[in-house]
Amino acid sequence: MPPLFRFAAPLLALAVLAPAAPAATPPTPHSLRQAVDDGAALFAHARFGSTRSYMPLDGLDRHALTCIACHSGGGVGPGHTPSGLTLPSLQGAAARYPQVRGGRVVTLEQQIAHCIAGGLGGQPPAAGSAAMTDLVAYLSALSRGAPFAPQLPAPPH
Ligand code: HEC
Repeated sequence: MPPLFRFAAPLLALAVLAPAAPAATPPTPHSLRQAVDDGAALFAHARFGSTRSYMPLDGLDRHALTCIACHSGGGVGPGHTPSGLTLPSLQGAAARYPQVRGGRVVTLEQQIAHCIAGGLGGQPPAAGSAAMTDLVAYLSALSRGAPFAPQLPAPPH
């Protein structure tokens, strides 16, 4: 190996391995993939501090109460509450927010927080927190391709 190259080669390797300068980039498909996957995991397993459990309609063992206790199949297809109330699929649900409930404007985040505080008996993650963002990403992924149809008036001109 010529002497100059012997000196330059490790420097070259360092340059290749050096991390790219941090840049303010929008979320990459990879990080969106991660958010949707993390949201799916939260949906299936997270208890948000709840100590409630439920008896599945078709089972014998008690289970920890999580989102999938009521929104079966990860929200794909119809669900039902432990007391037997049938719930519509969550596919397409995210595309219908914000909406009006009881005279108040409700965002998707607020609906999720409502389900965690009320349905689960847990502590909702703060708005804008990683957990809430992941749940929103997962529910939005369930609405891929659904017509965006919130109950909103036309914007003012
Ligand atoms: C104990 C049952 C129960 C649990 C657990 C539950 N939900 Fe719900 N969910 C409901 C009911 C009932 C509704 C219908 C609207 C309402 O009463 O809020 C609903 C509605 C929703 C909606 C709105 C659907 C629409 O078409 O507008 C979303 C989104 C939602 N739940 C997300 C979640 C998430 C995320 C979790 C877990 C963090 C969760 N839910 C846990 C019972 C539950």
